[in-house]
Order: sequence, then structure tokens, then C-alpha cells
Amino acid sequence: MVQEAHVTQGPLTTEAGTPVADNQNSEAAGIGGPVLVQDQLLLEKLAHFNRERIPERVVHARGAGAYGTFTVTADVTPYTRAAFLSGIGKQTEVFLRFSTVAGNLGAADAVRDPRGFALKFYTEEGNYDLVGNNTPVFFIKDAIKFPDFIHTQKRDPYTGSTEADNVWDFWSLSPESTHQVTWLFGDRGIPASYRHMDGFGSHTFQWSNAAGEAFWVKYHFKTDQGIKNLTAEAAARLAGEDPDSHQRDLRQAIERGEYPTWTVGVQIMPVAEAATYRFNPFDLTKVWPHADYPVVEIGKLELNRNPENVFAEVEQSIFSPAHFVPGIGPSPDKMLQGRLFAYGDAHRYRVGINADHLPVNRPHATVARTNSRDGYLYDGRHGGAKNYEPNSFGGPFQTDRPLWSATAVSGATGGHPAPVHAEDDDFVQAGNLYRLMSEDEKERLIANLAGFISKVSRDDIVERAIDNFRRADGDYGKRLEVAVQALRG
Ligand code: HEM
Repeated sequence: MVQEAHVTQGPLTTEAGTPVADNQNSEAAGIGGPVLVQDQLLLEKLAHFNRERIPERVVHARGAGAYGTFTVTADVTPYTRAAFLSGIGKQTEVFLRFSTVAGNLGAADAVRDPRGFALKFYTEEGNYDLVGNNTPVFFIKDAIKFPDFIHTQKRDPYTGSTEADNVWDFWSLSPESTHQVTWLFGDRGIPASYRHMDGFGSHTFQWSNAAGEAFWVKYHFKTDQGIKNLTAEAAARLAGEDPDSHQRDLRQAIERGEYPTWTVGVQIMPVAEAATYRFNPFDLTKVWPHADYPVVEIGKLELNRNPENVFAEVEQSIFSPAHFVPGIGPSPDKMLQGRLFAYGDAHRYRVGINADHLPVNRPHATVARTNSRDGYLYDGRHGGAKNYEPNSFGGPFQTDRPLWSATAVSGATGGHPAPVHAEDDDFVQAGNLYRLMSEDEKERLIANLAGFISKVSRDDIVERAIDNFRRADGDYGKRLEVAVQALRG
């Protein structure tokens, strides 16, 4: 967004463009007298100032963004007909917003929290948003639990602070969180910067090719800067000394011309294999082990341009897991299904019904042609064109071609938990992750967890929390129990 000189240079004006004579002294009834209502400049400035904020994101409020380029490096046309993935060397403009999850807009960056990795591809078939995290898994597997989960991460209604009791009460009663919690309290729980971490689409998505054949895929973004993390102690210091550390690091690296890059890969599962795979492939608390489905490199992501105006381009940016393009669609993952609703709804509340028209949000490589009109801040872009379909005035028409392939379903409606496959339980992958760690890593993991669990006030919550780790791995549980006891006395 390049600011035009006529908006920033020349005589100061009111919002109506009228020249301002005095921007230092408000108009008063005589020397030393009270201020006059006729000073419209004063009233306008105070009123506009009061309305500078929009609601912050209910989660992921704190973040930073940058523009860049995605380049295809492999032929994936056997798997998807998405135009932006249609040939080696093809480039697509992107905007990526990184974030932390729980903190408010002004929170410190260097905290233990998953990092958001929200990527918008401005493709010729419309914007494709991949709204992921720096972790391949998540705490829960059904969207109906999300508001409760986030309430435990945010401020308690009575104390006004975040409370260890709430966090561990929920996690211990949601054993499916054990894998993600093990990840979060391990070394990767506090990335040193947004550049030094991987990204994941996390969910399973559908790709479908020109013949309509479908595949299940998971996205991986491997940092080319290398993984760098902070210890709990280093992070606590940095969060105090430089709360904006991640945001500044990203901006300054791009200013220096050190453009961060990620190697992009996908795991691809033929649809026929899903039903009998050893894990439920749509369970967001599980990974697909690479031995089962290797990560195939498909592209390169580079960030190379800073936004000029943080409010306009980062705060007002919107990303939705429901923004698909032809050849890419959802899986039946119940978390993803809930997210398909939640984001558009959040955008309409937070930024407004015409949020999609803002420069950062609208398609850059095509145009949006809808019959939606009007609403707050509608800019009249459609002029006098007809606003209904079908019409006989040459208006936009439907393509008759669904974006993704149909998914077979069976059975009766009901509050069904996710299907359990042969090796599914809530602990097996948490235990595997623990056993993969070196002795040093295990020690830090235990210390990080024990430090937090020991702040819980109730014995029953502490015991239940430790028991989940015990069920993941006996040694894990035993060491944690000893460490927590030592701290609680
Ligand atoms: C059903 C569970 C979830 C719900 C209901 C949910 C809901 C939301 C909402 C309402 C926002 C704020 C959107 C806005 O105001 O613009 C948000 C932001 C975000 N969520 Fe989720 N979320 C869920 C799970 C997840 C998961 C599993 C991931 C990652 C794998 C994720 C990644 C993000 C990211 C990266 C953002 C920030 C997007 C941005 O930078 O604007 N969320 N989420």
C-alpha cells in the first residue's frame, strides 16, 4: 500500500478537507474562558481518537505480518487442480501473519504459547487461506470445546488474571491435550523468533485433481533459518526487556534484505487408505508419522516486504480456513469444520461486513464478483450493475464445478465422538514424543511442566494432570510427580 503524497503533504485539513488554521489552541469564549462547541476541529479530533480501536482478535490478538512469494518446486498436478500449484516455477503473492494465541494485543512476544502461522495466497482463482500454527497438532479435537479451552487460557472472571488452576483443570480433564502439552512445554514451546520456527497447516485437507480424484494432505513449512528456541529463563528476561522482540526481528530482517524462507512440503494420503489407517487421519491431536507418509517437497515460501501500515494491513487482515480455491477443500476433521464458521463470523464482527474489500484482504490476482452489496463502509465499486443472479444483463454466472470432491458419509446424526482407529488413544503419540527427546530435553520438559503444575492449588487437579503424563510414559509420569512434589513441598 503506497501512500499518496497528497494525503500526507500540504496544508493540514479537517476530515472534510477544510484547511486548519490553528492545531495548537482550541477555541475558547475569551482569554481563559471555557471551550466552544463551534470548535469542530477539536470535537472531530477527540471523537475520531475515541474510535481508533477495533475489537482485538478473541485469540491470536498479538501478531506481526509480512508479504512475500510462494514458488512451486514440484509437479503436484496429479493431486490437485489448484491453479496456483499448476506448474514448477509458478509464483503467487502471499501475506503471512504470525501470532501468539493467548495474549492480548499488547502482550509480550517471547512467551510459551503456540505461534499462529496464517498464510494468504493471492491466487488467480481467489484467495486461499491456510490458517495454521507452528505445531502439527492441537489441544482438542472438537470445535465445541474451543470456547471453554480458550476461557482457561485467558483471564479468570474473578481474579482478572490467568490461573494455573483453570489451565490444568481443563487440560487434565481433556486427556487428548497431552500430546500438544508435551510439545508446548518442550524445547520448541518458545521460538526465538517467528523466522526460526516451522509452520503447519495442522489439519488434514482435501486435494482433488482435474479428474476429480481426491487425496488427504497435511502441509509442512520447514524454516530454512533453522529452528531456534528460547529457554524459559531467557524468554522471561526478553519478554520484560523487549516485549516486541518477534515483531521487531521480522521487520528488521526484511529491512536488511535477509528474507526468511520456508521449504514447503505435503504429506499425501490416498483417500482409500483413510478408513483403515492406524490413526484417525482427521484427529487434530495426532500427526501422521513420516514413516507412514513422507513429506514431499512442493515449494518455497519467502517473505520479502513489510507492511507499511500495521493497523491497515495487519490488524485489519482477515484469514479464514473456509477460504478455499478449486482443487482444495476441507476434511471431516470436526475442529476444522467448526473453524469454517468461526472465522468469517469473527471478521464480520471485528472488521465489518466489507472487510473483504480492504486492500490486504481482497483478491490481488483476480477480482471478487458477488451480488453482495451495501453495508457499513461499502465503497460503491459495483456502480449501477444488477445485484442478482441469474440475470440477463451479462452479470457474473456460476461455474457448475464444485471446488472439491464429494466425501462419502454414513450413519445417523448425533453427538458422535471422532472414530477411534486401531492405534488411537490420547497418549500414544505424547509418549512417543517424550521418548524421542534427549535426556537434557526431558529434564527441561519436566522442569517446565512441574514449575507450572506446582502453582495449582488443588491436589485432585495436580494428581489428574500428572496421571495423563504417566499414561503417556511411566518414566515421564514418575519424574514429573517427583519434580512437582519437590516444588509443592
Ligand atoms: C475449533 C477451533 C477453533 C476456533 C473456533 C478458532 C477460532 C478463531 C478465531 C475466532 C480467531 C480470530 C479471527 C479474527 O478475529 O480474525 C482465530 C484466530 C486464529 N486461529 Fe483459530 N480457532 C480454532 C482453532 C485453531 C487451530 C487448530 C489453529 C491452527 C492450527 C488456529 C489458528 C489460528 C490463527 C493462526 C489465528 C490468527 C489468524 C490471524 O493472524 O488473523 N485456530 N481463531
